[in-house]
Amino acid sequence: MVEQREVRVSQMTWEADGVLSLRLSRIESNDPLPAWEPGDHVDVYVHDGTTRQYSLCGDPDDLSSWQIAVLREPEGRGGSAYVHDTVRVGDRLLVTRPKHNFVLEDATHHELVAGGVGITPMMAMAERLHRDGRPFHLTYGGRTASSMAFRQRLAALGDHVSFLAEDQDGRPDLETLVKDLPDGGLVYVCGPLPLLRAVQKAADDVLGPDQDVVRFELFSRAGIEPAESASLDADSYELVLTESGHTLRLKPETNILETVLALGIEVENDCRDGICGSCVTRVREGTVDHRDLVLTKREAAAMDQMMICVSRPTCPRLELEL
Ligand code: FES
Repeated sequence: MVEQREVRVSQMTWEADGVLSLRLSRIESNDPLPAWEPGDHVDVYVHDGTTRQYSLCGDPDDLSSWQIAVLREPEGRGGSAYVHDTVRVGDRLLVTRPKHNFVLEDATHHELVAGGVGITPMMAMAERLHRDGRPFHLTYGGRTASSMAFRQRLAALGDHVSFLAEDQDGRPDLETLVKDLPDGGLVYVCGPLPLLRAVQKAADDVLGPDQDVVRFELFSRAGIEPAESASLDADSYELVLTESGHTLRLKPETNILETVLALGIEVENDCRDGICGSCVTRVREGTVDHRDLVLTKREAAAMDQMMICVSRPTCPRLELEL
């Protein structure tokens, strides 16, 4: 069951061409807003009952209000147009609790790369790293200077931030950025899919495909081709649910999340597409074809957790902590 709450839109501000920020305030009669960490996002319910994902970019210590930023996307499904054209100060919006998939891990250095409105989680991370005195640098690219939100706020981080307006400065040199990454450093990226791909490619080219230094978050699988899957070469496998005591025989492609929900077992879930991380489940025994976009290479290789909405077994017997 997804936890929902109402918030009040207390402020709307133009941050750049086509980018509106919204302050979402606690409704006085309700509990304080849940705490969040840089990189977290919330789902906002829009006009047709579907959700859109927005990274939080305000002050994590402020439990009375959150801040998000919404880019108008003329080719989108209508959520950003609804926020821009219909939502006004004083309105109430339904939101989920913050989701914590994009985490600032320990590293000797954090190299942050943001494209366009992808600046929102990167800004929250940069401000946290700056506050904690940890080494980092943020490269912030946009089509034009006027399309780049929060420039003034980011200027407070001094030379920790490089601004690159593509029409004047060109694109960031991602290979050099990866080459200069200190040992033990991580690269965080948020922005359009081509930017994510370019960063991953630069890391693969410079450091090799086995490296595990790039961290990113996606809110949609749009534009991503299905990865080659390594499904089980058998008609069926045994699924053991250790907590509830069920043992099932399933076809390799049967959706595990739907199966366990049908048994009445409660599993948090949201996207059902391997991108939100809600349905992560502990693997007690067995191996898995990880088809999600949440786990890092190292986490996937450890074979001790899986997103049961999309991932499938590659073994004759899979034990899950459910
Ligand atoms: S429900 Fe979102 S990753 Fe499984």
